[in-house]
Amino acid sequence: MSEPNTPMFNVQIDGVWHQFPKGTRVIEACEQAGSYVPRYCYHKKLSSPGNCRMCLIEMGMPKMGPDRKPELGADGMPLINWMPRPQISCAQDVSEGMGIKTDSPLAQECRKGVMEFLLINHPLDCPICDQAGECLLQEFSVEYGRADSRFLENKVKKPKNIELGPRVTLDDERCILCSRCIRFCQEIAQDDVLGFVDRGSHSVLTAHPGKRLENNYSLNTVDICPVGALTSSDFRFQMRVWFLKETKSFCTSCATGCNTVIGTREDVIYRQTPRENDAVNSSWMCDYGRLNFDYLQSEKRLLQPEILSGDKLIPSDWNTAIAHAATQLKHFTGWEIAIIASGRMTNEELWLTRQLATMLGVDLIDIVPRTGPSDNILLSADRNPNTNGARLLGATNYPGARLREIVDGVASSRVRALIALGEDAVEIGLTSKQLSALPAFVVMSMLANESTAAATALLPSCGFAEKRGSMINGKGRLQRLNRAVRGPGQARDDWEILRDLIQAYSGRNGIYTIEDVFRQMSESVQPLAGLSLSKIGDLGVQVLEAN
Ligand code: SF4
Ligand code: SF4
Ligand code: FES
Repeated sequence: MSEPNTPMFNVQIDGVWHQFPKGTRVIEACEQAGSYVPRYCYHKKLSSPGNCRMCLIEMGMPKMGPDRKPELGADGMPLINWMPRPQISCAQDVSEGMGIKTDSPLAQECRKGVMEFLLINHPLDCPICDQAGECLLQEFSVEYGRADSRFLENKVKKPKNIELGPRVTLDDERCILCSRCIRFCQEIAQDDVLGFVDRGSHSVLTAHPGKRLENNYSLNTVDICPVGALTSSDFRFQMRVWFLKETKSFCTSCATGCNTVIGTREDVIYRQTPRENDAVNSSWMCDYGRLNFDYLQSEKRLLQPEILSGDKLIPSDWNTAIAHAATQLKHFTGWEIAIIASGRMTNEELWLTRQLATMLGVDLIDIVPRTGPSDNILLSADRNPNTNGARLLGATNYPGARLREIVDGVASSRVRALIALGEDAVEIGLTSKQLSALPAFVVMSMLANESTAAATALLPSCGFAEKRGSMINGKGRLQRLNRAVRGPGQARDDWEILRDLIQAYSGRNGIYTIEDVFRQMSESVQPLAGLSLSKIGDLGVQVLEAN
């Protein structure tokens, strides 16, 4: 977005005059005016080397009179002196009185020539290429290329199936030498690892000697590669992209909350890709977060509620399990109960957890902090996605500060009923033996672990891609999760489990949808006032000051 007071320039695009702020790239101006100019090497978040020549247009400057002032036409606008040769539109900015023709016979001829040139040595890989369906070479070939080939010689053979790094596979024959991946590594990932070697039609992309493309942002090169030269080793050959259902969401592997698109088919997640949001993640995400969804398809998923009968957990149904948990909790005062909540819970879940705590009279509640090194690019040191929500909604003041009290409370038998929501109680220092000795241990969890085996009521819950809700990222932005797949077995959305537990305990009802929960929350929590899940929108809303 341009600064206020930026000078505006008059620019004629395909015969119509428009105004653009100083500093607008010609290719962007054309797009804003509705004349899309095809491009390969240009990416708006990277520098512009202007090397693919796909964006050639005709350009002109104001015709100057003898007084060195622009000559004006009958419409009062400058007459244009058209340059005899085409110009690239990606590497220069608009200027006053500039004229552009994006679809003149010369521009069309240039594109056709560039397409023919790029396809000379391109292999006929489309049927087996992962990029098929979202490949700019395919799309522009249909739009701007020629139907037949005039090439009779043998195509140059180049290396295929090269492991550039642990997560990225390169097919050099498909590379059109646009250098987007090289520039991404230099300019965004700050890891100068890729380059071109050799000359002419034998030029190839490669990693510098002794280096591998293994930085934590390597898979962004796959996203921005306009063709199928760079592919994700994880996604390669798994699914044709046109079968994927796309759901807008965000990553929950750290407090940054990079915006994503989750690609799924028949309740299986195949990939996550970054979605542009300049307030959060620009156009990128880290590999760690991108690939962190396998656990949703793990064999350890809990598929059915269970209750303790005698000394054994037995399968149950939801009504029985919730009633069992509520009845157990009724035997204790708030002083005897503790709650381990989670910074991975949504705001709606944390709000209901707070209601549960108030209803039970529980004061001893905390979330489990989770940290790791930050990289000063996107990855945050806080690996919980919703610490801000947990603070705002009263599940913690200082994450982790009261966990010791919970552990000691269980050890001294002051705490006789423990509720663990999305966290493994063993990880905070409790032993299986201590947990098994608790008269009531209500566990809401996605995966089986050491502590779930000690539960007296076990409630299987859903993961980030299986539920709806909102979270507040580390910079105070409220963002929305959307359901991409259904949870397995009888696993339920966490907010529904908490709602049912509250209603079973209190005998009240009145919360039917997650929108009801958000409404209650927004009526009581000032930073959320006036908002609803739908008002959060795809790009989120700033609700807390960024610290
Ligand atoms: S691998 Fe892809 S992004 Fe990299 S230079 Fe080749 S075509 Fe461009
Ligand atoms: S930086 Fe954080 S939020 Fe973004 S993709 Fe990585 S783990 Fe996920
Ligand atoms: S997009 Fe302009 S030269 Fe490549």
